[in-house]
Amino acid sequence: MALLCVNIDHVATVRQARRTFEPDPVTAAMICEAAGAAGITCHLREDRRHIQDRDLRILRQTVKTRLNLEMAATAEMIGIALEVKPDMVTLVPEKREEITTEGGLDVAGQQKRIADAARQLRDGGIFVSLFINPDPLQIEAAGATDAEAVELNTGAYANARTPDDRRREYQILVTASALTRTMGLTLNAGHGLTYQNVLPVAAIEGMNELNIGHTIVSYAVLYGMAEAVRQMTRLIEKATHFPQLYRMA
Ligand code: PXP
Repeated sequence: MALLCVNIDHVATVRQARRTFEPDPVTAAMICEAAGAAGITCHLREDRRHIQDRDLRILRQTVKTRLNLEMAATAEMIGIALEVKPDMVTLVPEKREEITTEGGLDVAGQQKRIADAARQLRDGGIFVSLFINPDPLQIEAAGATDAEAVELNTGAYANARTPDDRRREYQILVTASALTRTMGLTLNAGHGLTYQNVLPVAAIEGMNELNIGHTIVSYAVLYGMAEAVRQMTRLIEKATHFPQLYRMA
């Protein structure tokens, strides 16, 4: 069975909208683990738009399953990873202006840079994965680095507009998955997976781990909404029934 790693970035996105202390991605990680997540993923972006350095450090101390840090292959991020020592680093491309990670890492086009980054991280005792498109050229390039795993980008499959396009993108993923395993690399996948499209990907032979974030945070917001409103109503009722207890002097 594929393991579920929950990406908690968007819990921090909501917090950063107000620059406050809630919702806390660290608490979210604990709840995910208690509910059976096999790992916690977070992406420390150059612009720190959601996860902050402090979150990463506290997550390192509190995550009891496995902590996977998504990051760009920059000197700054490699330095942070070697200091914090997540269990795993997934190298991703990063552009400031993008809404989310767009496309996989071009390993073939920057072989030396990625190979150097992977080597430094692996020498630091960190398991390294490369987020790449399901493209044989990229898988072979990944296999020529010290990375032990790849995360196949499921974005094109997830974003396919027609059933035919989705089927075609799925076959590309299946072929890429087989090549990944033939090359002795651990097979992970993620990006854009939802409750509606996850089943065929989770069913791919040898799928080790799925990284899923936005849809889980979305589900939590919507299905937790009724209880959140009931709790606030209970507090307002209490104040209405016992105003003398709650008025401040
Ligand atoms: N994998 C990688 C490499 C990502 O960058 C992201 C998004 O941060 C995910 C998986 C999770 O994608 P989503 O939030 O669409 O589930």
